[in-house]
Amino acid sequence: MTVTLESLCDDLRTALKDGESATSLENVRTLVEQALRDENFMTTVMRGRTPPPERVVLFEDPDLGFCVCAHIYEGEKIGGPHDHGPTWAVYGQAEGETVMTDWRIVRPAADGNPALVEETKRYTLKPGDAHAYPTGAVHAPIRYGSTLLLRIEGKNTDKVARTPIEVAA
Ligand SMILES: [Fe+2]
Repeated sequence: MTVTLESLCDDLRTALKDGESATSLENVRTLVEQALRDENFMTTVMRGRTPPPERVVLFEDPDLGFCVCAHIYEGEKIGGPHDHGPTWAVYGQAEGETVMTDWRIVRPAADGNPALVEETKRYTLKPGDAHAYPTGAVHAPIRYGSTLLLRIEGKNTDKVARTPIEVAA
């Protein structure tokens, strides 16, 4: 079956009707992988944009608040450890590769001090792969070359405050 932006949003609405859970995020992750492996979706929705902007919100659900976004990063782009504040995200790799790192909080943010984190895991997202980051999961993307991403966010992360985070010495 062909995946369109409209069919993806319909399926996401069904997956997310009861909010964030391990099951709902796994369902979203599976839907993202199906979309990325669908040539029609890749051609009509993902490809053909040139930044700026790097980030385009393709759809924002007025009731549930989730967002479907396309991100294009040209050339190398190294991101620091971060969470998504009060929400979750599913990262889908459409083109290029992302070396993703996961981090453990060794001291939570408190009293104006940032959270301290240390790296726990490193893995590569390849085209067609998707990974879920639940609320509070700290991660950092390393992109050595240009990438195209399909990202689903529980809430539009343009509008949320992230936890201040530093790497533990
Ligand atoms: Fe992120």
